[in-house]
Amino acid sequence: MPVITTIDDLKRLHKRRAPKMFYDYAESGSWTEQTFRENSTDFDLIRLRQRVAVDMSDRSTAATLIGTDVAMPLALAPVGLTGMQCADGEIKAARAAEKFGVPYTLSTMSICSIEDVAAHTTQPFWFQLYVMQDEEFVDNIIARAKKAGCSALVLTLDLQILGQRHKDLKNGLTAPPKLTIPTMINLATKWHWGLGMLQTKRRFFGNIVGHAKGVGDASSLSSWTNEQFDLRLDWDKIAKLKEKWGGKLILKGILDAEDAKKAAAIGADAIIVSNHGGRQLDGALSAIRVLPSIAAAVGDRIEVHMDSGIRSGQDMLKALALGAKGVHIGRAYIYGLGAMGEAGVSKALEIIHKELDVTMALCGRRDVRALDRDVLLVPQDFEGSWA
Ligand SMILES: Cc1cc2nc3c(=O)[nH]c(=O)nc-3n(C[C@H](O)[C@H](O)[C@H](O)COP(=O)(O)O)c2cc1C
Repeated sequence: MPVITTIDDLKRLHKRRAPKMFYDYAESGSWTEQTFRENSTDFDLIRLRQRVAVDMSDRSTAATLIGTDVAMPLALAPVGLTGMQCADGEIKAARAAEKFGVPYTLSTMSICSIEDVAAHTTQPFWFQLYVMQDEEFVDNIIARAKKAGCSALVLTLDLQILGQRHKDLKNGLTAPPKLTIPTMINLATKWHWGLGMLQTKRRFFGNIVGHAKGVGDASSLSSWTNEQFDLRLDWDKIAKLKEKWGGKLILKGILDAEDAKKAAAIGADAIIVSNHGGRQLDGALSAIRVLPSIAAAVGDRIEVHMDSGIRSGQDMLKALALGAKGVHIGRAYIYGLGAMGEAGVSKALEIIHKELDVTMALCGRRDVRALDRDVLLVPQDFEGSWA
């Protein structure tokens, strides 16, 4: 077993162990991938202020996210097809999250169903909803999430229409994979993955199959999205969904201060400043670059979270210092899952936590909740003057 010390180590193992179509599905952005790349490179532009001779004993990364105590202010983001990176992937990720003491978010497009994850975990998790045209399906899935005890609804707003990722089309991405000759050749080298898949029944979209009517090809993410997602989603509908859900609501995919103000006005509990990990509008600004303006616009009215590009505890500290109350990670834990299953997700969380804790100490800070812009050196034109 190689010595794993970084998220990048997990990524390399993920690439080796998961089928190409699923690794590529995770490790890609839309069109030219400019936004996907800049989500990471923009973090590198920000530097940290080293401080010395400061008491760094009794450090704490404990915090709260929408009123829930967490070991560090981080949640696992919803990731479709997680159960294809590794058998029973959603259950494994949720278990690692609950052991660590951070929230897990289950995607609408998961392989394990809401009920299945609830049956195999002890802590409430969050459920992410994509709004479909079929109102009955939406009402039903909201009721299912409530019944399963989900403690927050994460409503994704930046995917009414799917951003194109070239690799998914070229690889013929489906769940489960269709056995074409190139796929079979690739699967022949992934025996550990295959063994896991043979031992589980969870190989289809668990929240969809058997619950949605008139689905053409439920194995194809892109055709299902094109057929079913609600192009007419607007703020009125969001307000109605909020009523229907009646619990904690997080609006995901906000990248503009004007939209953030609307989210605050309808009374959501939190927003996630996000560009979907660079998978939707290619050419949009990185999430870390827009975070300060959004935090300044609504941070006193609504909890501001952030995702897109976080690969280390240092990235996490930068986001918190620029105004996020919490961060969400997508690929960083998916690499862990694809590399080593549940243990890999735990490893990813441990790596990020340790990096956060040590970075805080070296910046002369002891409490994660008190991080502010003062710990950073931010280029003067970081946010940019865009007209
Ligand atoms: C493979 C993959 C699948 C995703 N599926 C979903 C999804 O089903 N629902 C959703 O709201 N966001 C989805 N996202 C976006 C993530 O929730 C999150 O916004 C993004 O991964 C954050 O960027 P990061 O991967 O750089 O951390 C997905 C992201 C990836 C990488």
